[in-house]
Amino acid sequence: HAADAYRTDLMTITRFVLNEQSKHPESRGDFTILLSHIVLGCKFVCSAVNKAGLAKLIGLAGETNVQGEEQKKLDVLSNDVFVKALISSGRTCILVSEEDEEATFVVASKRGRYCVVFDPLDGSSNIDCGVSIGTIFGIYMMKDGDEPTLNDVLQPGKNMLAAGYCMYGSSCTFVLSTGAGVNGFTLDPSLGEFILTHPDIKIPKKGKIYSVNEGNAKNWDAPTAKYVEKCKFPKDGSSSKSLRYIGSMVADVHRTLLYGGIFLYPADKKSPNGKLRVLYEVFPMSFLMEQAGGQAFTGKQRALDLVPKNIHERSPIFLGSYDDVEEVKALYAAEE
Ligand code: AHG
Ligand code: MN
Ligand code: MN
Ligand code: MN
Repeated sequence: HAADAYRTDLMTITRFVLNEQSKHPESRGDFTILLSHIVLGCKFVCSAVNKAGLAKLIGLAGETNVQGEEQKKLDVLSNDVFVKALISSGRTCILVSEEDEEATFVVASKRGRYCVVFDPLDGSSNIDCGVSIGTIFGIYMMKDGDEPTLNDVLQPGKNMLAAGYCMYGSSCTFVLSTGAGVNGFTLDPSLGEFILTHPDIKIPKKGKIYSVNEGNAKNWDAPTAKYVEKCKFPKDGSSSKSLRYIGSMVADVHRTLLYGGIFLYPADKKSPNGKLRVLYEVFPMSFLMEQAGGQAFTGKQRALDLVPKNIHERSPIFLGSYDDVEEVKALYAAEE
């Protein structure tokens, strides 16, 4: 009857994180405050993305970022929103954004202990055609010492306290891990709240989908070429995998997390370190995959063990279902 139509045990992301926090009596709610500011930024970007076509928010901003990419208006707008929201939280000391060449060191009066690395708008090439895009973030605790330095963000991904993404697609979905599993929340626009819709996400142990830009095939190294060949022409008589590639990492990774399979952005002759950035694309997605029972590999090592030397460093990445990534690791091991 009608009452069933309305879930009354609404678990909002804020309540969820407060519940988590209550497991750490020593915490003073700083993380909850930080997260609420990230969530605010995502709600703002979600609203801007939904209006982009109408509000003349598509197209180029006329600038180029440190990646050598032409910045889209939404790249710049979302970056401004997150930088301001994170600083106003009073809980951060260093911010690293894909869109800013240098790290932002928060002024002492507004400083907290958290370092946030983020890609304010991932999948920018898909903005103008309305295909899903997203925001990706990772959170480190500042190392001890009182003056923040770059070393506080040049930490291996395994040191992250939390990581997540928000996908602006047919619905606005926020996926988060604070190191105790992965949970997904969907924005209810009528409430303006993210509601828990995907509790305790676990990635299938093996999948039927591979996700890669086949247009780079001529430049791949042998193990990658062999793996993709195996996906298309399996030797053991099993059926070949389907190819799904959206070109927004957030959307490709979200599908991989829910359906299983493997996402890969390998090295190639043109870009020996691949394309994806370690701090705010590879690490957060690898953190989530491991927390969901999957794994993430760079071609040489566990992705989360990598120690970045600069804030925009890139790495090849193979992530997703545990068994699928194992096959890639075996091919690279055989190559050594
Ligand atoms: P961004 O838009 O933040 O610069 O990231 C784009 C990335 C990532 O979202 C996606 O997986 C990858 O670029 C797609 O690259 P290709 O177009 O080379 O396949
Ligand atoms: Mn970019
Ligand atoms: Mn990106
Ligand atoms: Mn981006």
